[in-house]
Amino acid sequence: TPRIFSGIQPSGGLTLGNYLGAIKRFVEKQDEEFETIYCIVDLHAITATLFEPDVLRRQTRELTAGYIASGLDPAKSILFNQSQVAEHTQLAWIFNCIARMGWMQRMTQWKDKAGKNTQNASLGLLAYPALMAADIMVYHATHVPVGEDQKQHLELARDIATKFNHDYGVEFFPITEPVIEGAATRVMSLRDGSKKMSKSDPSDASRINLTDDADAIAQKIRKAKTDPDALPSEAEGLEGRPEARNLVNIYAALADQSVEAVLRDVGGKPFSEFKPILSELAVEKLAPISTEMARLMQQPDEIDAILSKGSERARTIAAPILKQTYEIVGMVS
Ligand code: TYM
Repeated sequence: TPRIFSGIQPSGGLTLGNYLGAIKRFVEKQDEEFETIYCIVDLHAITATLFEPDVLRRQTRELTAGYIASGLDPAKSILFNQSQVAEHTQLAWIFNCIARMGWMQRMTQWKDKAGKNTQNASLGLLAYPALMAADIMVYHATHVPVGEDQKQHLELARDIATKFNHDYGVEFFPITEPVIEGAATRVMSLRDGSKKMSKSDPSDASRINLTDDADAIAQKIRKAKTDPDALPSEAEGLEGRPEARNLVNIYAALADQSVEAVLRDVGGKPFSEFKPILSELAVEKLAPISTEMARLMQQPDEIDAILSKGSERARTIAAPILKQTYEIVGMVS
């Protein structure tokens, strides 16, 4: 069976972008013909900034709670945190020796996060995409659902796998397919339609957090930036209107409808009418998730048990693949 792997960093709260671009897709795949493995990538989370240990622990549990509250089922999917399956970092070391410095330095995320003073960025931040490639390849995953912003990293993962196969003359690592689908593969900031919605944006009004209650969700949508025109009735009418496009995409993704179908319904309406409709849908879909997350967070022991069980299952897949990799490379065991 085809195997899916994907992960999210526990580097802060979950946003609507993470939900629509990733988690909602994860849940759908879980009920299709895939074996599904979803990771909390705690080792990636410390590449840009180190956290207080208690903060990292809380964020890891909260992300796990977000996965489960959104509908991921530990009986159907393997849910675990990256640090507990050492094979990820073991394969990442091999990949560090396959990947070229030039490949890593070309990554836009590296350029954005390292900033001008690259001398002061962590080595882990530069190596980040090689660890990400290892996350996927250590399971021979065939499909990786992600948002648009991870596309470049997935292309690099394919390059690493291809070079490994070529250098050792094997067909060992699969050439993985990115799965970037749906109406909201790039959810934008509610304050600025040219910026990605992000957990690290200093303005909380720019994003909807999965922990926001109904009032907060409604207020942020009410205040979301728009233009003065009414909504168009066809998708071409969203051209050059990034804020309008973003709100329509969000509606379509939450409603499981196409953008065209949404515009057939709301085309011609001014934002003063569309925003309350969007707000009602968002509250209906998201408020139960935040309530369930809060409930799960009262039971950290249960969350930890789910992660530890998941890690065990993940290891049974990863260990033989790492062993074969070591044999291909020539490590004596
Ligand atoms: P991360 O933690 O930044 O984001 C997790 C997932 O959420 C998606 N996403 C968005 N989608 C749409 N609109 C947005 N505004 C938005 N913001 C975030 C991301 O595309 C991603 O799918 N490098 C990864 C984590 C990772 C990983 C992996 C992913 C590590 N190893 C292996 C796949 C496979 C990351 O930083 O995601």
